[in-house]
Amino acid sequence: MKDVAVDSILQVIGHTPSVWLDRMVAARGLEGRILAKLDYLNPGFSKKDRAALGIIEAAEADGSLAPGQVVVELTSGNMGTGLAIVCGIKGYPFVAVMSRGNSPERARMMAALGAEVVLVDQAPGSVPGEVSGTDLALVEAEAQRLTAARGAFRADQFARAGNAMAHYRTTGPELWAESEGTLTAFADFAGSGGTYAGTVRALKEREPALRGYVVEPEGAAVLAGEDLRDAGHPIQGGGYAMADLALMEGVPVDGYLSVSGAEARETARALAREEGIFAGFSAGANVAAALRLLAGPERGGRVGVIICDSGLKYLSTDLWG
Ligand SMILES: Cc1ncc(COP(=O)(O)O)c(C=O)c1O
Repeated sequence: MKDVAVDSILQVIGHTPSVWLDRMVAARGLEGRILAKLDYLNPGFSKKDRAALGIIEAAEADGSLAPGQVVVELTSGNMGTGLAIVCGIKGYPFVAVMSRGNSPERARMMAALGAEVVLVDQAPGSVPGEVSGTDLALVEAEAQRLTAARGAFRADQFARAGNAMAHYRTTGPELWAESEGTLTAFADFAGSGGTYAGTVRALKEREPALRGYVVEPEGAAVLAGEDLRDAGHPIQGGGYAMADLALMEGVPVDGYLSVSGAEARETARALAREEGIFAGFSAGANVAAALRLLAGPERGGRVGVIICDSGLKYLSTDLWG
Protein backbone atom coordinates (compact mmCIF):
# COMPACT_ATOMS: atom_id res chain seq x y z
CA MET A 1 0.00 0.00 0.00
CA LYS A 2 0.99 3.59 -0.56
CA ASP A 3 1.83 5.73 2.47
CA VAL A 4 -1.48 7.54 2.46
CA ALA A 5 -4.42 7.53 4.89
CA VAL A 6 -7.65 5.80 3.86
CA ASP A 7 -11.26 6.81 4.50
CA SER A 8 -12.39 3.70 6.38
CA ILE A 9 -11.12 0.44 7.85
CA LEU A 10 -12.74 -1.41 4.92
CA GLN A 11 -9.97 -0.16 2.67
CA VAL A 12 -7.42 -1.87 4.90
CA ILE A 13 -8.90 -5.33 4.22
CA GLY A 14 -6.57 -7.43 2.09
CA HIS A 15 -3.20 -6.37 0.66
CA THR A 16 -1.57 -8.36 3.49
CA PRO A 17 2.18 -9.02 3.29
CA SER A 18 3.61 -12.40 2.32
CA VAL A 19 6.71 -13.99 3.83
CA TRP A 20 8.90 -16.86 2.63
CA LEU A 21 9.20 -19.43 5.44
CA ASP A 22 12.84 -20.14 4.61
CA ARG A 23 13.86 -20.79 8.24
CA MET A 24 11.33 -23.58 8.77
CA VAL A 25 12.11 -25.17 5.42
CA ALA A 26 15.88 -25.09 6.02
CA ALA A 27 15.56 -26.39 9.60
CA ARG A 28 13.83 -29.50 8.25
CA GLY A 29 16.39 -30.03 5.51
CA LEU A 30 13.78 -29.60 2.78
CA GLU A 31 14.21 -28.28 -0.74
CA GLY A 32 11.91 -25.55 -2.04
CA ARG A 33 10.10 -22.58 -0.55
CA ILE A 34 6.81 -21.82 1.21
CA LEU A 35 5.18 -18.43 0.74
CA ALA A 36 2.90 -17.55 3.65
CA LYS A 37 0.30 -14.82 3.20
CA LEU A 38 -0.19 -13.09 6.54
CA ASP A 39 -3.94 -12.74 6.56
CA TYR A 40 -3.97 -12.51 10.35
CA LEU A 41 -2.93 -8.89 9.76
CA ASN A 42 -6.39 -7.99 8.45
CA PRO A 43 -8.50 -5.60 10.62
CA GLY A 44 -10.48 -8.52 12.13
CA PHE A 45 -7.27 -10.56 12.47
CA SER A 46 -8.37 -13.16 9.91
CA LYS A 47 -8.71 -13.85 6.20
CA LYS A 48 -12.49 -13.89 6.55
CA ASP A 49 -12.61 -10.08 6.43
CA ARG A 50 -12.15 -10.52 2.69
CA ALA A 51 -15.11 -12.90 2.40
CA ALA A 52 -17.30 -10.67 4.58
CA LEU A 53 -16.62 -7.63 2.40
CA GLY A 54 -17.05 -9.72 -0.77
CA ILE A 55 -20.46 -11.08 0.27
CA ILE A 56 -21.85 -7.76 1.50
CA GLU A 57 -20.68 -5.79 -1.54
CA ALA A 58 -22.04 -8.44 -3.95
CA ALA A 59 -25.39 -8.34 -2.13
CA GLU A 60 -25.48 -4.55 -2.27
CA ALA A 61 -24.69 -4.65 -5.96
CA ASP A 62 -27.41 -7.19 -6.85
CA GLY A 63 -30.02 -5.66 -4.56
CA SER A 64 -30.44 -8.68 -2.27
CA LEU A 65 -29.44 -6.59 0.76
CA ALA A 66 -31.63 -3.57 1.52
CA PRO A 67 -30.28 -0.45 3.26
CA GLY A 68 -30.37 -0.95 7.03
CA GLN A 69 -31.47 -4.61 6.77
CA VAL A 70 -30.38 -6.99 9.54
CA VAL A 71 -27.59 -9.40 8.53
CA VAL A 72 -27.37 -12.88 10.15
CA GLU A 73 -24.53 -15.36 9.84
CA LEU A 74 -23.32 -18.65 11.20
CA THR A 75 -19.67 -18.26 12.14
CA SER A 76 -16.75 -19.91 13.90
CA GLY A 77 -15.94 -16.34 14.93
CA ASN A 78 -13.81 -15.08 12.10
CA MET A 79 -16.52 -14.53 9.47
CA GLY A 80 -18.60 -12.92 12.19
CA THR A 81 -15.78 -10.58 13.12
CA GLY A 82 -15.34 -9.58 9.48
CA LEU A 83 -19.09 -9.04 9.11
CA ALA A 84 -19.25 -7.08 12.37
CA ILE A 85 -16.65 -4.70 10.95
CA VAL A 86 -18.18 -4.45 7.47
CA CYS A 87 -21.80 -4.18 8.70
CA GLY A 88 -20.81 -1.70 11.40
CA ILE A 89 -19.23 0.66 8.90
CA LYS A 90 -22.00 0.23 6.32
CA GLY A 91 -24.91 0.53 8.77
CA TYR A 92 -26.41 -2.98 8.83
CA PRO A 93 -27.29 -4.44 12.27
CA PHE A 94 -25.46 -7.78 12.51
CA VAL A 95 -26.33 -10.96 14.41
CA ALA A 96 -23.56 -13.57 14.76
CA VAL A 97 -24.61 -17.15 15.55
CA MET A 98 -21.74 -19.24 16.92
CA SER A 99 -21.23 -22.56 18.69
CA ARG A 100 -20.22 -22.42 22.33
CA GLY A 101 -17.46 -24.83 21.24
CA ASN A 102 -15.53 -21.98 19.60
CA SER A 103 -13.19 -19.95 21.76
CA PRO A 104 -14.92 -17.23 23.84
CA GLU A 105 -12.53 -14.46 22.82
CA ARG A 106 -14.19 -14.56 19.41
CA ALA A 107 -17.62 -13.79 20.87
CA ARG A 108 -16.20 -10.93 22.92
CA MET A 109 -14.50 -9.43 19.91
CA MET A 110 -17.66 -9.57 17.77
CA ALA A 111 -19.68 -7.97 20.57
CA ALA A 112 -17.08 -5.24 20.98
CA LEU A 113 -17.45 -4.48 17.27
CA GLY A 114 -21.19 -3.97 17.70
CA ALA A 115 -22.54 -7.43 16.81
CA GLU A 116 -25.36 -9.18 18.64
CA VAL A 117 -23.85 -12.58 19.49
CA VAL A 118 -26.05 -15.67 19.88
CA LEU A 119 -24.23 -18.71 21.29
CA VAL A 120 -25.57 -22.20 20.56
CA ASP A 121 -24.89 -25.16 22.86
CA GLN A 122 -22.88 -28.03 21.43
CA ALA A 123 -24.50 -31.42 20.84
CA PRO A 124 -24.45 -33.77 23.85
CA GLY A 125 -21.02 -35.43 24.03
CA SER A 126 -19.25 -32.75 21.96
CA VAL A 127 -15.99 -31.35 23.29
CA PRO A 128 -15.45 -27.60 23.82
CA GLY A 129 -12.84 -26.41 21.32
CA GLU A 130 -13.84 -29.17 18.89
CA VAL A 131 -16.78 -28.04 16.78
CA SER A 132 -18.14 -30.94 14.74
CA GLY A 133 -20.48 -31.02 11.76
CA THR A 134 -23.27 -31.99 14.18
CA ASP A 135 -22.55 -28.93 16.33
CA LEU A 136 -22.54 -26.81 13.20
CA ALA A 137 -25.95 -28.17 12.16
CA LEU A 138 -27.36 -26.87 15.46
CA VAL A 139 -25.84 -23.44 14.79
CA GLU A 140 -27.27 -23.52 11.25
CA ALA A 141 -30.78 -24.26 12.53
CA GLU A 142 -30.60 -21.28 14.91
CA ALA A 143 -29.22 -19.04 12.15
CA GLN A 144 -32.13 -20.03 9.90
CA ARG A 145 -34.64 -19.39 12.65
CA LEU A 146 -33.22 -15.94 13.37
CA THR A 147 -33.04 -15.03 9.68
CA ALA A 148 -36.74 -15.75 9.26
CA ALA A 149 -37.73 -14.10 12.55
CA ARG A 150 -35.86 -10.85 11.78
CA GLY A 151 -36.52 -10.69 8.02
CA ALA A 152 -32.75 -10.69 7.72
CA PHE A 153 -30.23 -11.11 4.94
CA ARG A 154 -28.36 -14.38 5.50
CA ALA A 155 -24.71 -13.81 4.63
CA ASP A 156 -24.42 -17.56 3.94
CA GLN A 157 -20.68 -18.00 3.54
CA PHE A 158 -21.16 -21.65 2.49
CA ALA A 159 -23.31 -20.72 -0.50
CA ARG A 160 -22.76 -17.16 -1.67
CA ALA A 161 -20.38 -16.66 -4.56
CA GLY A 162 -19.13 -13.39 -3.04
CA ASN A 163 -17.04 -15.46 -0.61
CA ALA A 164 -14.93 -17.28 -3.20
CA MET A 165 -15.05 -14.23 -5.49
CA ALA A 166 -13.28 -12.12 -2.87
CA HIS A 167 -10.37 -14.57 -2.84
CA TYR A 168 -10.42 -14.82 -6.64
CA ARG A 169 -10.18 -11.04 -6.94
CA THR A 170 -7.74 -10.37 -4.11
CA THR A 171 -5.99 -13.29 -2.35
CA GLY A 172 -4.99 -15.19 -5.48
CA PRO A 173 -3.68 -12.22 -7.49
CA GLU A 174 -1.84 -10.84 -4.43
CA LEU A 175 -0.13 -14.18 -3.75
CA TRP A 176 0.87 -14.56 -7.38
CA ALA A 177 2.32 -11.06 -7.60
CA GLU A 178 4.14 -11.39 -4.27
CA SER A 179 5.70 -14.68 -5.38
CA GLU A 180 6.83 -12.82 -8.52
CA GLY A 181 5.00 -15.40 -10.55
CA THR A 182 6.91 -18.37 -9.17
CA LEU A 183 4.36 -20.46 -7.21
CA THR A 184 4.05 -24.08 -8.30
CA ALA A 185 1.42 -25.18 -5.76
CA PHE A 186 -1.19 -23.90 -3.28
CA ALA A 187 -2.48 -25.78 -0.23
CA ASP A 188 -5.45 -24.75 1.91
CA PHE A 189 -7.46 -26.12 4.84
CA ALA A 190 -11.11 -25.97 3.79
CA GLY A 191 -14.05 -24.70 5.79
CA SER A 192 -16.53 -23.26 3.32
CA GLY A 193 -13.92 -23.88 0.62
CA GLY A 194 -14.19 -20.23 -0.42
CA THR A 195 -10.50 -19.46 0.05
CA TYR A 196 -9.35 -22.56 -1.78
CA ALA A 197 -11.84 -22.15 -4.64
CA GLY A 198 -11.20 -18.47 -5.33
CA THR A 199 -7.45 -18.53 -4.81
CA VAL A 200 -6.76 -21.64 -6.85
CA ARG A 201 -8.90 -20.38 -9.73
CA ALA A 202 -6.96 -17.11 -9.84
CA LEU A 203 -3.60 -18.89 -9.59
CA LYS A 204 -4.38 -21.48 -12.25
CA GLU A 205 -5.49 -18.71 -14.62
CA ARG A 206 -1.99 -17.30 -14.31
CA GLU A 207 -0.16 -20.66 -14.26
CA PRO A 208 -2.24 -23.60 -15.50
CA ALA A 209 0.43 -26.09 -14.34
CA LEU A 210 0.13 -24.93 -10.72
CA ARG A 211 -1.27 -27.68 -8.47
CA GLY A 212 -3.96 -27.10 -5.84
CA TYR A 213 -4.16 -29.24 -2.68
CA VAL A 214 -7.10 -29.35 -0.28
CA VAL A 215 -6.18 -29.85 3.38
CA GLU A 216 -8.51 -31.67 5.79
CA PRO A 217 -8.34 -32.98 9.35
CA GLU A 218 -7.16 -36.55 9.78
CA GLY A 219 -10.19 -38.78 10.31
CA ALA A 220 -12.53 -36.31 8.57
CA ALA A 221 -11.10 -36.26 5.04
CA VAL A 222 -14.45 -36.52 3.30
CA LEU A 223 -13.57 -34.22 0.39
CA ALA A 224 -10.81 -36.72 -0.39
CA GLY A 225 -13.53 -39.38 -0.50
CA GLU A 226 -12.67 -41.04 2.81
CA ASP A 227 -15.30 -42.16 5.30
CA LEU A 228 -15.74 -40.02 8.39
CA ARG A 229 -13.84 -41.78 11.18
CA ASP A 230 -13.43 -39.00 13.72
CA ALA A 231 -15.25 -35.66 13.55
CA GLY A 232 -13.42 -34.19 16.54
CA HIS A 233 -10.39 -31.97 15.94
CA PRO A 234 -9.13 -28.64 17.29
CA ILE A 235 -8.65 -26.93 13.91
CA GLN A 236 -11.34 -24.26 14.26
CA GLY A 237 -12.81 -22.69 11.15
CA GLY A 238 -13.07 -25.75 8.95
CA GLY A 239 -12.84 -29.50 8.58
CA TYR A 240 -16.56 -29.94 9.09
CA ALA A 241 -16.66 -33.22 7.15
CA MET A 242 -19.12 -31.79 4.63
CA ALA A 243 -18.64 -33.75 1.42
CA ASP A 244 -20.66 -31.31 -0.70
CA LEU A 245 -19.29 -27.79 -0.52
CA ALA A 246 -21.20 -25.58 -2.94
CA LEU A 247 -18.26 -23.23 -3.49
CA MET A 248 -15.97 -26.15 -4.42
CA GLU A 249 -18.22 -27.39 -7.23
CA GLY A 250 -16.23 -27.60 -10.47
CA VAL A 251 -13.08 -26.28 -8.79
CA PRO A 252 -9.94 -28.23 -9.76
CA VAL A 253 -8.17 -30.19 -7.01
CA ASP A 254 -4.87 -31.94 -7.78
CA GLY A 255 -4.46 -33.67 -4.43
CA TYR A 256 -5.63 -34.00 -0.83
CA LEU A 257 -3.69 -33.96 2.44
CA SER A 258 -4.89 -34.71 5.93
CA VAL A 259 -3.31 -33.17 8.98
CA SER A 260 -3.90 -34.24 12.58
CA GLY A 261 -4.87 -31.76 15.26
CA ALA A 262 -1.55 -32.44 16.99
CA GLU A 263 0.39 -31.75 13.80
CA ALA A 264 -1.52 -28.48 13.23
CA ARG A 265 -0.83 -27.46 16.84
CA GLU A 266 2.88 -28.34 16.70
CA THR A 267 3.31 -26.52 13.39
CA ALA A 268 1.52 -23.40 14.66
CA ARG A 269 3.90 -23.44 17.64
CA ALA A 270 6.87 -23.85 15.31
CA LEU A 271 5.62 -20.95 13.15
CA ALA A 272 5.63 -18.72 16.22
CA ARG A 273 9.02 -19.88 17.49
CA GLU A 274 10.90 -20.20 14.22
CA GLU A 275 9.32 -17.53 12.02
CA GLY A 276 7.82 -15.05 14.52
CA ILE A 277 4.35 -15.65 13.05
CA PHE A 278 1.72 -15.90 15.80
CA ALA A 279 -1.21 -17.71 14.19
CA GLY A 280 -3.96 -20.26 14.78
CA PHE A 281 -4.45 -23.98 14.25
CA SER A 282 -5.53 -23.80 10.60
CA ALA A 283 -2.44 -21.80 9.67
CA GLY A 284 -0.50 -24.61 11.35
CA ALA A 285 -2.42 -27.14 9.26
CA ASN A 286 -1.64 -25.24 6.05
CA VAL A 287 2.08 -24.97 6.81
CA ALA A 288 2.23 -28.62 7.93
CA ALA A 289 0.69 -29.59 4.58
CA ALA A 290 3.11 -27.39 2.65
CA LEU A 291 6.11 -28.91 4.48
CA ARG A 292 4.81 -32.36 3.65
CA LEU A 293 4.44 -31.36 0.00
CA LEU A 294 8.07 -30.19 -0.13
CA ALA A 295 9.11 -33.51 1.40
CA GLY A 296 7.05 -35.35 -1.25
CA PRO A 297 5.40 -34.49 -4.57
CA GLU A 298 6.35 -30.78 -4.59
CA ARG A 299 10.01 -31.24 -3.69
CA GLY A 300 11.97 -28.20 -4.84
CA GLY A 301 8.76 -26.32 -5.62
CA ARG A 302 7.17 -23.16 -4.27
CA VAL A 303 4.02 -23.65 -2.24
CA GLY A 304 1.65 -20.82 -1.31
CA VAL A 305 -0.37 -20.92 1.94
CA ILE A 306 -2.60 -18.58 3.93
CA ILE A 307 -1.96 -17.71 7.57
CA CYS A 308 -5.69 -17.64 8.31
CA ASP A 309 -6.00 -15.98 11.70
CA SER A 310 -4.18 -14.67 14.74
CA GLY A 311 -2.84 -16.77 17.59
CA LEU A 312 -4.48 -14.26 19.93
CA LYS A 313 -7.81 -15.92 19.09
CA TYR A 314 -6.59 -19.08 20.84
CA LEU A 315 -5.29 -17.80 24.16
CA SER A 316 -8.05 -19.70 25.95
CA THR A 317 -7.21 -22.99 24.18
CA ASP A 318 -4.36 -25.47 24.60
CA LEU A 319 -2.54 -24.05 21.57
CA TRP A 320 -0.20 -21.97 23.65
CA GLY A 321 -0.18 -24.37 26.56
C1 LIG B 1 -9.28 -19.85 11.15
C2 LIG B 1 -9.93 -20.34 9.90
N1 LIG B 1 -9.25 -21.19 9.12
C3 LIG B 1 -9.78 -21.69 7.99
C4 LIG B 1 -11.07 -21.35 7.58
C5 LIG B 1 -11.63 -21.94 6.31
O1 LIG B 1 -11.71 -20.99 5.28
P1 LIG B 1 -12.77 -21.14 4.11
O2 LIG B 1 -14.13 -21.00 4.72
O3 LIG B 1 -12.47 -20.06 3.14
O4 LIG B 1 -12.59 -22.51 3.52
C6 LIG B 1 -11.81 -20.46 8.36
C7 LIG B 1 -13.18 -20.10 7.99
O5 LIG B 1 -13.93 -19.52 8.74
C8 LIG B 1 -11.23 -19.94 9.54
O6 LIG B 1 -11.92 -19.08 10.33
